[in-house]
Amino acid sequence: PTGPAPRIAVLGTGYLGATHAVAMAQLGMEVVGVDTDPHKVEMLTAGKVPFYEPGLPELLSEQMATGRLRFTTDVAEAVGWADVHFVCVGTPQSKTSHAADLRYVEAVTTAITENLTHDALIVGKSTVPVGTAARLRTLVAREAPAGVRAELVWNPEFLREGKAVADTLHPDRIVLGGTSSDAEALLRRVYAGPIAEGSPVVVCDLPTAELVKVSANAFLATKISFINAISGVCEAAGADVTVLADALGHDVRIGRQFLDAGLGFGGGCLPKDIRALMYRANELGAGRAAALLQQVDEINMGQRQSVIDLAVQACGGSVLNRRIGVLGAAFKPHTDDVRDSPALNVAAALHLRGAQVTVYDPEAGDTARAMFPTLGYATSVDEAVEGTDVILVLTEWDEFIQADPAHLALLTHQPAVIDARGRLDAARWRSAGWTFTGLGRAALA
Ligand code: UGA
Repeated sequence: PTGPAPRIAVLGTGYLGATHAVAMAQLGMEVVGVDTDPHKVEMLTAGKVPFYEPGLPELLSEQMATGRLRFTTDVAEAVGWADVHFVCVGTPQSKTSHAADLRYVEAVTTAITENLTHDALIVGKSTVPVGTAARLRTLVAREAPAGVRAELVWNPEFLREGKAVADTLHPDRIVLGGTSSDAEALLRRVYAGPIAEGSPVVVCDLPTAELVKVSANAFLATKISFINAISGVCEAAGADVTVLADALGHDVRIGRQFLDAGLGFGGGCLPKDIRALMYRANELGAGRAAALLQQVDEINMGQRQSVIDLAVQACGGSVLNRRIGVLGAAFKPHTDDVRDSPALNVAAALHLRGAQVTVYDPEAGDTARAMFPTLGYATSVDEAVEGTDVILVLTEWDEFIQADPAHLALLTHQPAVIDARGRLDAARWRSAGWTFTGLGRAALA
């Protein structure tokens, strides 16, 4: 590659954008992160990450110190300066249907296009329904200032929260959708570091790139609902789903990952992505995919109901005025994200039925309180467990897996635990006097 390194703008500084901006700076490029929220920009500028993501604060400070990375609310300035513009805004579930809400993606693409001052590449990273990029291309062609050549391509992101830095710097694959040969060459330069370290590049058309992303999430969701469906059979038959999953996982065609049975999937991605894919598949007349994913969604939501039922059962048929300790609020460990969190969903449902619910999470207490202010919150495991009739382990933080059941038993009103993530050592809890209930592990009950 010749000439100066491309200048990068990253529009949207949420989980995806903030991580992407920092990672691009780490790869040696000059980067500006853009957000409409001045508070986020202020925090990032001060070297603070507005959410919990392991390893990101250190890398942010390091990259701010190099002078290669900055943040701004001034989209015109950032767009006028950069050569490659990454669209990293959210596509939440619409308030009125299962469709994805594309207003942020459309607004950002329009803002980039209108402010272009020289030829540029617009790179979509957001998760979108197939067909969106082609539509955005028309928008870019229509709105681009005279004399400016703007190309729009799709480069979906596969990072996991909690592992966002490693996933961005060492992606399993780099998908480049709808690129001209110039655009492909430019993006191969941007990702030269990961490519040199072995990340494979898949070059494809726009709809394939959009669909790779949602199919990946749909497959992961299906894997989880598959094991949860089998978990129900295990319970009925007296088998142990965790041992079964280990045995299945030895088959490399199946693999052990994403076979942890329990409360099921949540978060800002899997649930809304399968729903948006169902919606889009139906629109396209491809109803079979929708029917399959409908089952995946129903099995998943059913797991939440099963845990609620188990809690009611543990309280003798009614949770009214009973004290319930909820360990975990985040949708999974190593994040403070509570979007569509199964843990909070269960906690809120029990609260609605009249239980006194106290939630503890090592990182997500504040985000949880902001979303469900009427639940009780504790600042330690001990405090959440104090005086309870039953405790529920709903997010598998290490702190809960390692907790001392003998000590906790002394704090409760009645030592009963429901392990909804299948990660506690059942024998250890039982020998400390606990009534232990695990999902898909009836053999041990
Ligand atoms: C997911 C995908 O894994 C990423 O590849 C993708 O980039 C991202 O969505 C996205 O679309 O942005 P994430 O939402 O961070 O990432 O979380 P996952 O690690 O996939 O976990 C999702 C949910 O599945 C969690 O609630 C987790 O508790 C649950 N899960 C996971 C299980 O119930 N069982 C398992 O075996 C694995």
